[in-house]
Amino acid sequence: MNIQVYENAAQIGKAAGALFAAKIIEKPACVLGMATGSSPLPTYAALVELYEQGVLDFSEVRSFNLDEYVSIDRSHEQSYYRFMFDNLFSKVNIKAENVQVPYPVSPDPNSDCAAYDAAIDAAGGIDLQILGIGNNGHIAFNEPSAVFPFGTHIVDLTQSTIEANKRFFASADDVPRKAITMGIGSIMKAREVMIIATGAAKAPAVKAMLQGDVDPQCPASILQLHPAVTVFLDTEAAALL
Ligand code: GLP
Repeated sequence: MNIQVYENAAQIGKAAGALFAAKIIEKPACVLGMATGSSPLPTYAALVELYEQGVLDFSEVRSFNLDEYVSIDRSHEQSYYRFMFDNLFSKVNIKAENVQVPYPVSPDPNSDCAAYDAAIDAAGGIDLQILGIGNNGHIAFNEPSAVFPFGTHIVDLTQSTIEANKRFFASADDVPRKAITMGIGSIMKAREVMIIATGAAKAPAVKAMLQGDVDPQCPASILQLHPAVTVFLDTEAAALL
């Protein structure tokens, strides 16, 4: 693992943005795995800046998002679909038909989950996946559990995640209880992965991810087995290493 520690989130945004930019320049029709949350925001801002400077062209880029709440509409201001348009997709020249955010629409959500993984495979797989990490070590919405779930699936959010995400909603009661998420297998199949963690609250999860056992109780620890991971930390998130 390539572990990089920076002073602040803005510096991480520039560095992680540069990694994304290099991929898009090297392979204009690349497949990007996108994440939501506060951690990727400076990276997306860096990408928008590079696009506005004429450095990047997203016209052939395709993307697949990691996850989405199940019970809220895509127009809801906390939907991850809307998050992606508000923070990146509407600000660059990516084609709307080339972006996918998982969302179960059929009476059988499992078939939607299987279709999402099949669509990623049909696109040739993810070239570069960006991740954040939850305070409990989750990646996407793969919560701590007894096993590493392989493919895209529907998940019940843990109380810890509901608590962590209630800041975006009027109250904890308004946080959706279910989500659809790429599985650990879907994420591990990405050819390259970057993960961003900032702030002291992430320090225990970062330590478990990098220095603990590979254990589904810390889903991010699986990244120890991925051959091409860059870890971007600020000094606070790296404090326990
Ligand atoms: C959510 C998302 C994750 C994200 C995590 C951390 O639960 N499903 O993909 O990594 O929050 O979010 P943040 O970056 O805001 O700390």
